[in-house]
Amino acid sequence: MNYHLTESKDGPGLGAALGGLWPLVRDQRGQLIAASLALFSSALLNLSGPALAGYAIDHFVATHDYPGVLRCCGLLLLLYGLASLGQYGQTVWMGGVGQQLLFRLRTQLFAKIQDLPLAFFQVNRSGDLISRLNNDTDKVNMFFTQSLMQFLGSLLGMGGAAFFLLSLHPQLGAAALWPAAALFLINRLFSPWLRARNRASLASAGNLSAEISDSLENFKAIVAYHRRDYFRERFAQANAQNYQRALAAGLSNQLFVPCYALCNNLAQLTVVIYGLTLVSHGQMTVGLLISFLTYVTRFYDPLRQMAALWAGFQTAMAGWERISAILKLQSNLEQIEDSSPASATVMEFQSVDFGYEPGRPILNQVQLRLEAGKTYALVGPTGGGKTTTASLMARLYDPTRGKVLLHGRDLRSYAAAERAQKVGFILQDPFLLAGTLRDNLLYAHPDYSDELLAGMEELLAGFAQGLDTPIDSLSVGQRQIVAFMRAVLRRPELLVLDEATANIDTVTEAILTRILERLPAHTTRVVIAHRLNTIENADEIYFVNQGRLIRAGSMTQAVAMLRDGHRES
Ligand SMILES: Nc1ncnc2c1ncn2[C@@H]1O[C@H](COP(=O)(O)OP(=O)(O)OP(=O)(O)O)[C@@H](O)[C@H]1O
Ligand SMILES: [Mg+2]
Repeated sequence: MNYHLTESKDGPGLGAALGGLWPLVRDQRGQLIAASLALFSSALLNLSGPALAGYAIDHFVATHDYPGVLRCCGLLLLLYGLASLGQYGQTVWMGGVGQQLLFRLRTQLFAKIQDLPLAFFQVNRSGDLISRLNNDTDKVNMFFTQSLMQFLGSLLGMGGAAFFLLSLHPQLGAAALWPAAALFLINRLFSPWLRARNRASLASAGNLSAEISDSLENFKAIVAYHRRDYFRERFAQANAQNYQRALAAGLSNQLFVPCYALCNNLAQLTVVIYGLTLVSHGQMTVGLLISFLTYVTRFYDPLRQMAALWAGFQTAMAGWERISAILKLQSNLEQIEDSSPASATVMEFQSVDFGYEPGRPILNQVQLRLEAGKTYALVGPTGGGKTTTASLMARLYDPTRGKVLLHGRDLRSYAAAERAQKVGFILQDPFLLAGTLRDNLLYAHPDYSDELLAGMEELLAGFAQGLDTPIDSLSVGQRQIVAFMRAVLRRPELLVLDEATANIDTVTEAILTRILERLPAHTTRVVIAHRLNTIENADEIYFVNQGRLIRAGSMTQAVAMLRDGHRES
């Protein structure tokens, strides 16, 4: 599966976005319905005003019936007051839903990211992911909570006004609406272009964030090799690109605003000219013309508002595209069914092929059997494929072809917790969690207690604050010791040690060896090392080079192979 988050050309529409967001707010149906009702009634109340005013002019003002005029004014006041109340209710009900939506969207996205395999993190930059998690979710939230209701309100208001316009006087109504119809068509035409610009703007914001996080992660190289200029230059470029794209998106979003004003003016002009002609021919009353003009305003004002909302809508849809690109990825480390009978062989590689990238194979038809209680050594030149083989044993990746079996069953059929319990590994690059020693050991061992550490006192003595020592204060060797303790504490059935002692002095290495010797007799070990004395006691030695695993009969043969391997490459 391809885990590259590329920008799509034709993103999902509003319907797809609403469909994707609906599950997040489903349980707040009540509030949503209340908000919609409030919105609907306030739009209706607002709309009935001009008709009432027109009626008052024709029936009470024209006949000098002032108590009638007063009654109408009172009624109007009541209508508008109730409409404001409805708007207030809608704002209050929607506000809570909006924050919930943002909260849940981020939770969902974060959970998804946590669930994705290593391959995903190798091809996507963390800064861009952070931007999607933070910036893009916010863009979606802003539109759906602040603007969607306004958007719908405007739409309702416009629909109602159009209805009144057409029913009061169909011809005059049509004359008032034609500029809007033209605008609608133009908008539809330009919509994909607008979306593309907004998409590009968000992507460059993601890139900027990635540049920042890259430079923060590489601060040692920056300081040591005086690479400030290099990162400054990269940042300047990303910043300039972001600026230009944001500017372009902003300008395009605003491009149509003057058109809205123009449409409004055109419509007013048409109505005044045509309407006055009708009045002078006695085909229309003055009151009706006044309500008509008010409805034209009622139609075009929200349209102008929608121009501003439209920009938010385009940004939100571009943000939603970037979010859903992650949400629709499948974790390829899924659990499969396998009911093969259990086998005494701890691990078996059956014709395993693997490559990190398509078209660049790293392991080729690898066969390997690991029996309980034995120690295996993997040796080979740098870049030969040892760490890759170890990563497949721990299911950091799945083979592209062939199978890895654990006790006769496909490794993919084990639940992650069970697999992690059975296979312990210390990787060349010991990854530890931020926090203290205790956090890291505790994480490896859910029912951890201090007694578990019995026998490790000698190792712990090397840490200034014992279990409370912060991880970020440790040397590389000390980190390897923590990784070692973490793996051993689990009492795994298979323990993979990838250069686990490469940075550790010989005295400490002897302590580690003693601890390893105390592991249960059936523990299988795979040791990867360049220092050959580390693997002297291995039962079997495998030579790994150019994606192939060849069994070396003895240590002398392994050394010879290593020498020949170097000569070949
Ligand atoms: N994450 C990765 N993405 C792409 N290619 C990778 C990745 N990790 C390793 N490789 C490539 O796979 C090949 C085998 O790498 P591997 O780390 O397994 O070698 P190794 O035998 O462990 O080497 P060393 O002795 O240096 O630790 C190398 O050519 C390397 O460039
Ligand atoms: Mg390696």
